[in-house]
Amino acid sequence: MTNNLDDADVAGKRVLLRADLNVPMQGGAVSDTTRLERLVPTIKELSDKGAKVIVLSHFDRPKGKVVDAMSLRPIATALGEVLGRHVAFAADCIGPVAEAAVAKLHNGDVLVLENTRFHAGEETNDAGFSKELAKLGDIYVNDAFSAAHRAHASTEGVAKHMPAFAGRLMQAELHALEKALGHPARPVAAIVAGSKVSTKLDLLSNLVAKVDILVIGGAMANTFLAAQGYSVGKSLQEANLHDTAREILKTAAVKGCEIILPLDVVVSETFAEHPPTQVVKIDAIPANMMALDVGPATVAAFIQRLPEIKTIIWNGPLGAFETKPFDASTNALADAISAATKAGKIISVGGGGDTVSALKLAGVQHDLTYLSSAGGAFLEWMEGKILPGVVALSQDFSNIG
Ligand code: 3PG
Ligand code: MG
Repeated sequence: MTNNLDDADVAGKRVLLRADLNVPMQGGAVSDTTRLERLVPTIKELSDKGAKVIVLSHFDRPKGKVVDAMSLRPIATALGEVLGRHVAFAADCIGPVAEAAVAKLHNGDVLVLENTRFHAGEETNDAGFSKELAKLGDIYVNDAFSAAHRAHASTEGVAKHMPAFAGRLMQAELHALEKALGHPARPVAAIVAGSKVSTKLDLLSNLVAKVDILVIGGAMANTFLAAQGYSVGKSLQEANLHDTAREILKTAAVKGCEIILPLDVVVSETFAEHPPTQVVKIDAIPANMMALDVGPATVAAFIQRLPEIKTIIWNGPLGAFETKPFDASTNALADAISAATKAGKIISVGGGGDTVSALKLAGVQHDLTYLSSAGGAFLEWMEGKILPGVVALSQDFSNIG
């Protein structure tokens, strides 16, 4: 069990809050504030309870060096706007600059420290660097589920030095995932799509043992189709993974997991906005064309199955959703899942960077039971992997001074 804020006495304490401020930026401004918004409950609760809130985060991948373009300063300003209050900023996350900024805090204040990845010790999880961070706080709270797959100093090392708790976002993420995959209402269906089987091998292998129905879409479905002897024309596929794909299908059969592959696909000669397209059955993909979306018959067949399903986990858009009209199947499925969720018929959980973008474009990002803020961490959790940042919150801290 992770410790959460219900167990923490934070009044008057310096709370090191690991957040994930790794937000999308365009032209120096935050282009999507979702991750900031989702931090509000924890920051507000800590501040209202009289904590001095000291936010730690990485941004991008500066690889242990100071890279001005990767400063957290503009993101601290954006966080202040989202919170509707002043947020202080310190130009370093350890040492005299950070210590002076922390010393100035009053109870309830919020301070963002500069990018932890400006120091090499962050990613190497250096003990000395963790201790430097730990000097700045009395209590550690981790709300960065989306960075919990990294065993870094600010996500793991620092938690060894003080009482450690899950923030409200971390708690919500773990609760939703546990509900969807730990002890789900059955039958449970997983939709796994995206471009490559190779990046989702562990995910597929774990899911076939856990879910009742596995829908495979996106370009990775082409690899499965080709492995079954269909000719997929110029479609993206991984010819070296046909044996692996057949292995996964075999395991699924043994475990009683039904695999749903496309029945039809949308094909085109070129990958561009609104090119001429055709819908063809999977045994009729022309040699000079590529599949860019699963077809309408496939989506309709799965939507027809929805009434029997109790839990759905979704990772990966079904087609090349950023290029129209290859967003059609993803949108149709998103609408159907949104409606079934709103009607109280299914529990639906989505996650992964592309999935969140696709669901936003489909306009249903608020309609699923839970939409994870995480990309890589969501996948690793679904792969059954241990997340170091989560494990660090389960410590018995009764002996820590
Ligand atoms: C993310 O955005 O996925 C997390 O912040 C982790 O970032 P990373 O992949 O650079 O570790
Ligand atoms: Mg990432």
